[in-house]
Amino acid sequence: MNLIKTVSSVALAATVAAVTFASPALAKNFKIAVGDSGGSSQEATGLAFKEKLEELSGGKHTATLFLNGQLGSEQDTVNEAAIGTLDMSLLAINNVTPFSPTVGVFTLPYVILSLEDAETLTQGPIGQELTENTINDAGVRIIAWTYTGFRVLTNSKKPVKSVADLEGLVIRVPKNEIMIDTYKSWGISPTPMAWSETFAGLQTKVVDGQDNPYTTINAMKFYEVQDYVTEIRYIFSIEPLIVSEQVFQGLSAEDQAAVLEAGEYATQASAQFLRDKEAEIKALLVEKGMEIHVPENDEAEFIELATTAVWPKFYDSIGGVEKLNAVLAAIGRDPVSQ
Ligand code: MLT
Repeated sequence: MNLIKTVSSVALAATVAAVTFASPALAKNFKIAVGDSGGSSQEATGLAFKEKLEELSGGKHTATLFLNGQLGSEQDTVNEAAIGTLDMSLLAINNVTPFSPTVGVFTLPYVILSLEDAETLTQGPIGQELTENTINDAGVRIIAWTYTGFRVLTNSKKPVKSVADLEGLVIRVPKNEIMIDTYKSWGISPTPMAWSETFAGLQTKVVDGQDNPYTTINAMKFYEVQDYVTEIRYIFSIEPLIVSEQVFQGLSAEDQAAVLEAGEYATQASAQFLRDKEAEIKALLVEKGMEIHVPENDEAEFIELATTAVWPKFYDSIGGVEKLNAVLAAIGRDPVSQ
């Protein structure tokens, strides 16, 4: 009797397994948290991903974008994705760094000097290695890269043309040690604040300024509360689309392939978005009343102070000076010594 029971349970389990294996995967609507609002580079990446995923899956799978930090601060979304309660998130790489320090190499000031540098690094072996690191460290997989452009400084108080002009300004920065230390190298102590709180912080004048790329400043309507721009261009903002590794591993091999291909398509679409839109958006910000300044001596003072003080401090967290040198070599720049 017992034997019959056991055999029939095994047979039942095998039948269930066979049916599960053979049945087509369920249609999925990937929930994507997006830190920025409509019109942003992040949204452009998310929409391109959705469009390609729908095409590749014959309309079976889709994605819904939750813009403007509706699903929480960017750093919180990394935790949510890690435990599988959120499918995907589009966020700035600086907000991934606290969970996977080696990606900090992309946030070191004045390392990436052009969109082409950013494309070379993210789409080559270095991007692949950092993707593997984020899976292991943070439980999230980078499937697309958004190229948002150089971060420029904005503030509501005064024109800034030199490091000395920063004195007296309260500047919001992400909760990112590299960015905090960069401002310290310029002589001021910035205020770390979540991205989702930044507009309110600027509006209520808890902080005087912040930095982000032109496309982000426009999408977030910072021109309503900020008057002056300084092209410090210290970081080229890279903003990945991450998927929960748990969610990814739960997909069939075919669906995983579709997600990865849609991600590659979104990466290319993002570069195109920046090439097409950045100059137009900068002009629009001037029309809206923002005053743009270029630092004296082509940022030389900002570059010298930041690279000297900040790079060596973070060699250990990015995996050693050799990791920085690999990045510099990949974009045709000279190595640094320890
Ligand atoms: C930040 O400043 O925290 C980020 O760059 C915001 C963003 O994702 O655009």
